Amino acid sequence: MTEPVVSIRNLSKVYQQGDIQVTALNGVSLDIGAGEFLALMGPSGSGTSTLLHIIAGVDRPTGGQCLVQGVDVGQLDESGLADWRNQNVGFVFQSFNLIPVLTAFENVELPLLLTQLGGRERKRLATTALDLVGLGDRSHHLPRQLSGGQEQRVAIARAGDGPEVDRGG
Ligand SMILES: Nc1ncnc2c1ncn2[C@@H]1O[C@H](COP(=O)(O)OP(=O)(O)OP(=O)(O)O)[C@@H](O)[C@H]1O
Ligand SMILES: [Mg+2]
Repeated sequence: MTEPVVSIRNLSKVYQQGDIQVTALNGVSLDIGAGEFLALMGPSGSGTSTLLHIIAGVDRPTGGQCLVQGVDVGQLDESGLADWRNQNVGFVFQSFNLIPVLTAFENVELPLLLTQLGGRERKRLATTALDLVGLGDRSHHLPRQLSGGQEQRVAIARAGDGPEVDRGG
């Protein structure tokens, strides 16, 4: 078998909120292969978002290891982690996390501003991503002028845009 893309060993996450400790993850081990489609399911509060945040480098574990394509994500410093996320991760948040003062188009274009792409190419990729989620005619709307499902689709376009959209990937 080829190396797993995600390799998690004995991962834990304890949130400290004043005097209260919440153990969100306790000794999780898991491998995810290339091309595998995985659904994580559990009761509300069981730690599914916490696990995804750690895999995506949005949050850090308090114990154990999470390797993504061989990179120990928890060991990267803040700016290394930001670069790694920009180049490797598309994330649709449970709450959409759209920027309220930016239009749908600008929200989708935002991660592309951190790449080497020029303005014309960014516009083409962001437009393609919005078209793919059926929101080509809402690109100048602000998030508050969209329905909840439309906001979620903008978040999907933002997570999925980039050069790979061209390859239909
Ligand atoms: N920033 C935080 N500080 C303190 N506790 C937190 C924090 N974020 C999450 N928790 C707690 O950690 C546990 C796991 O939270 P998490 O968001 O991973 O749950 P979830 O499985 O995604 O739930 P849901 O299905 O409701 O989205 C919960 O008990 C939650 O209250
Ligand atoms: Mg959640």
